[in-house]
Amino acid sequence: MTLPVIEVCEVSRRYDDGPPALREASLTVRPGEAVAVLGPSGSGKSTLLNLIAGLDRPDAGTVTVDGVRVDRLGETGAALFRRSRIGVVFQFFNLLDDLTVSDNVVLPARLAGTGRREADRRAAELLELLGIDRHARAYPGRLSGGERQRVAVARALVNRPALLLADEPTGALDTAAGEDVSRLLTTLNAEGQTVVVVTHDLALARSCTDRTVRIADGRVIEDVRSSRAVAPEAVR
Ligand SMILES: Nc1ncnc2c1ncn2[C@@H]1O[C@H](COP(=O)(O)OP(=O)(O)O)[C@@H](O)[C@H]1O
Ligand SMILES: [Mg+2]
Repeated sequence: MTLPVIEVCEVSRRYDDGPPALREASLTVRPGEAVAVLGPSGSGKSTLLNLIAGLDRPDAGTVTVDGVRVDRLGETGAALFRRSRIGVVFQFFNLLDDLTVSDNVVLPARLAGTGRREADRRAAELLELLGIDRHARAYPGRLSGGERQRVAVARALVNRPALLLADEPTGALDTAAGEDVSRLLTTLNAEGQTVVVVTHDLALARSCTDRTVRIADGRVIEDVRSSRAVAPEAVR
């Protein structure tokens, strides 16, 4: 039996004196899975993702990622762990506008201790794989939303993470660019990348994941294996 990449066990999280954002939520994700987390706005999806990424700490329960108790790490430990083992993609890209596309991708590799030459090589390889190598020396501000999200995905992958997390990655994109990013996540998963994507976008969930977890009111209310949308010629 392979060890899970993510094991979230009965986590609860409450901000200040508001209602609980998560109530004893549990989720296990195995290597190679693609999981969509769906739910209405305010249901706790980002809170759950942030706990998995070690960006936040639960009030109760445990979070284990790639064998490490993330909920027990301090801020620095969590940052180091995230840098080496988890890639995160956000709705609004969060690229550094003063760095070129290539340097945005290189940076996390350099921070993780990869040599300049190897980091450059890895970044170039990813930019080519994601079809944005011609923009390597441009600044993110010159790129379309879809291209920026590809850069963010390249950056998330540069340290070969055990886990790729994406929070509404198509939320700021038009339909065509959204489909593009959705195809990209599908391809990465087909190559073995474990992916967890939070989304409102049912088409994204259907096309790029094989499991759907629904959250409502801070609780996991459904966890089902979905039959992925399959191209007609692949049916027989
Ligand atoms: N930093 C925060 N401070 C206070 N309340 C927050 C914070 N982040 C989220 N919340 C609240 O927690 C609940 C869940 O939010 P969130 O996880 O962002 O939901 P979703 O991503 O599903 O839209 C919401 O009621 C939201 O208002
Ligand atoms: Mg959210």
